[in-house]
Amino acid sequence: MSTASSKPEIATAYDRWAETYDVDPNRTRELAATVLRQRGLSLAGHDVVEIGCGTGRNTPWLAEHARSVLALDFSEGMLRQASARVRSPHVRFVQHDIRSTWPVAEASSDVVIAMLVLEHIEHLEPIFAEAARALRGGGELFLCELHPMRQLRGGQANFVNRETGEPERVTAFLHDVSEYVNAGLSFGYELVHLGEWRDDEALRSDLPRLLSVQFRRRAGAPSRSRSDC
Ligand SMILES: C[S@@+](CC[C@H](N)C(=O)[O-])C[C@H]1O[C@@H](n2cnc3c(N)ncnc32)[C@H](O)[C@@H]1O
Repeated sequence: MSTASSKPEIATAYDRWAETYDVDPNRTRELAATVLRQRGLSLAGHDVVEIGCGTGRNTPWLAEHARSVLALDFSEGMLRQASARVRSPHVRFVQHDIRSTWPVAEASSDVVIAMLVLEHIEHLEPIFAEAARALRGGGELFLCELHPMRQLRGGQANFVNRETGEPERVTAFLHDVSEYVNAGLSFGYELVHLGEWRDDEALRSDLPRLLSVQFRRRAGAPSRSRSDC
């Protein structure tokens, strides 16, 4: 793995969660998968980078539609599940910490997908910078995260540790909606769609469960933040 020597605490938490991640009931994960499939992303004939692919719940669907999928995650346990699930010559799983330079050539990808991963990233800018570097002009960045209002109310990725029987919460960071949007704008992306998603049976007065943001990279936009220039 191309990261610092000690294994990040979030990666080890996901290693512990990996074997039960797919069987634990998880409405956030299910709704996110539905949202991804509804957004009409342009995948046909395109090269996709999926960051924080986890056990690969969305990877087969991406692979079915795209020309290639590079799926990155830093948890060995999650990637083991993903590799067992998806066997396709045009899908490549790579163990990688997405906070460091991605193993992707400049302007070589058409779509970057981030599902329920950015809540584990403290500083968004390096991620938006890497996506901007990886994307061709006109390429799209799609992210879908637990809604920050839910986080403020205490929502956080959690599971029961199989060995101890104790509940564990995985370290998460709060990003307001404006932080996601402004990070994208500062890297020269155009905002295509902002979504706030509730469960089917939720009331209008319930907090949205998920936030999604879809950006398009303008052709010729710099891959550095305007504030760095
Ligand atoms: C909640 S899971 C989501 C998995 C999958 N995208 C899904 O929707 O089911 C978050 C995933 O992000 C990965 N992750 C978190 N921080 C990461 C980082 N810095 N680099 C790579 N992967 C990371 C975790 O290992 C975990 O597999």
